[in-house]
Amino acid sequence: MCGIVGYVGKKDCTKVLLDSLQKLEYRGYDSAGVAVFENGDIRISKSKGRLAVLEEKLKKEGWINGSCGIGHTRWATHGEPSDVNSHPHGNARVTIVHNGIIENYQKIKKYLEKKGYVFESQTDTETVAKLLDYYYDGDPMETIRRVLGEIEGSYALGIMFKDFPNTIYAVRRDSPLIVGVGDDEAFIASDVPAILKFTRDYYLLDMDEIAVLKDGNAEIYDVHGIKLEKQLLTADWDMEAAEKGGYPHYMLKEISEQPEAIKTTIIPRINNGMPDLSECGITTQRLLNYQNIFVVACGTAMHAGLVGKYVIEQLARIPVTVDVASEFRYRNPILTDKDLVIVVSQSGETADTLEALRLSKRMGAETLAIVNVKGSSIAREADMVVYTHAGPEISVASTKAYMVQVAVFYLFAFELAYAKEAISEEECKRLTKSLMDIPDIINVVLQQSEQCKYIASKLINSSNLLYIGRGLDYALSMEGSLKLKEISYIHSESYAAGELKHGTISLVTDGMPVIAVATQRELFDKTVSNVKEVKARGATVIFVTHSYKTVESDVADYKIGLPTIDDILMPMPAVVPLQLIAYYTSVLKGNDVDKPRNLAKSVTVE
Ligand code: M6R
Repeated sequence: MCGIVGYVGKKDCTKVLLDSLQKLEYRGYDSAGVAVFENGDIRISKSKGRLAVLEEKLKKEGWINGSCGIGHTRWATHGEPSDVNSHPHGNARVTIVHNGIIENYQKIKKYLEKKGYVFESQTDTETVAKLLDYYYDGDPMETIRRVLGEIEGSYALGIMFKDFPNTIYAVRRDSPLIVGVGDDEAFIASDVPAILKFTRDYYLLDMDEIAVLKDGNAEIYDVHGIKLEKQLLTADWDMEAAEKGGYPHYMLKEISEQPEAIKTTIIPRINNGMPDLSECGITTQRLLNYQNIFVVACGTAMHAGLVGKYVIEQLARIPVTVDVASEFRYRNPILTDKDLVIVVSQSGETADTLEALRLSKRMGAETLAIVNVKGSSIAREADMVVYTHAGPEISVASTKAYMVQVAVFYLFAFELAYAKEAISEEECKRLTKSLMDIPDIINVVLQQSEQCKYIASKLINSSNLLYIGRGLDYALSMEGSLKLKEISYIHSESYAAGELKHGTISLVTDGMPVIAVATQRELFDKTVSNVKEVKARGATVIFVTHSYKTVESDVADYKIGLPTIDDILMPMPAVVPLQLIAYYTSVLKGNDVDKPRNLAKSVTVE
């Protein structure tokens, strides 16, 4: 969580920092702040609230004029969102911004208090700033090295020393950090979109390397102070891809981008009509070795894994276990070298997923990452990587990333099933062709936007609702429910439809909305029976099913009809109305759709 940036160059630094931070607000928006060298001094401005609040403050209290500085946008972990807990932290001598968590900060704080230091904030970050000050002896590199030897946890730090004007030092461990380079200017940032307005060229800072930015240049050193020659990378995202492009919200833009994102993700992985993930290291020999598959992820990425489980088990007949990463890493899982652990992550930086990956590797399993952000920690550490080419996903609510994660699971399942001779070449080609048709089908579903908005208008006054489904539709219900609750703040639960009468049905009262998903033909009648049960108890039912199915009024109050395709592929078009219902409910309630309260896009703390 949190986003950090830094700039050295010739431009108005405060403006550059604010522009860059705006692209990182998805990482947290509890407070924002900047520190800029002005006439040899470090001047700080920070405040609780969004970046816009800070910008207003700067305009009112005086712009900081300089060409070198650091900035921060916060998702609070230690200490409430407040002016005093906002970053940057430090004193007139050393100022820092931090993304991550310092686990041993209490111990360091006690030690420094004994040495006479007085702490103003409740943050873990302030201890690092004060520890840097404590050890500072005129040599920034040596001071940083000493501090790195003492702090434990995860961090990306941007550091400025008053004695070294117009210079930024940056280090990281576990939290992401890139070093951007342009014409006579250099940047640090937690993520690529922050620098795209200025440059597409960047270095990935590796663990415990120290970047030094000055005179418009960036140099990177190892922990012993030896200068490194790093590979310069070029982002293949452009600014337009990271902007709203005329849509009122990123979420709606990203929902609309799904057909294109699927094509960009799957087409390069289809060869002669067959799935081909060999460029990612997935070979037939490897596939035949696996006895068990584990899918480990968080939130929406985990829901994509649930779809993957159904599809892999159904087609390839290999057992798949899906775990939430924060549970998996502490449940002492049973793994062998015959197991494959698939970790799924849009950001590639989710702390629990990253640790689950590391645990799996230590235990000897092979690991495959399905990741959107190139060069992210998870992508770099996994044995094999399939990149989802969704482009930047800015809205906190994940939509297109889910869609392409699911698309990759299909390709993987088809290839695995064929390798294991569970399906014929002909069937594999037929399924692959059907997958290639999905983008056009989603374009048709997107035309039901108005119906979804109408349904949303019926939900906005509810305080509770249920999502139900069976099989693949249950997995979808979970995703629909998460999407709705995270951005509309309406409490919602998802249940396996057949499980309702074992307790949950007692919650159903007159007018309570129940969103029922029924796209699996074999299970259709059974789901209809469950829907009738809730309807008989007064529920208002929104039924999501195939267009051709006639739905009586004793079953549904509102219906969303979906095109008819292979049941197994239905999750891709069927999730779209669920995303749109969540989106419009949030819009109609007047919520901040792209930045829901208490959340951050990239969860880099456990
Ligand atoms: O970056 P990741 O895919 O690892 O993120 C995982 C979850 O934090 C994420 O999917 C979250 O649940 C979304 N906000 C849901 O829309």
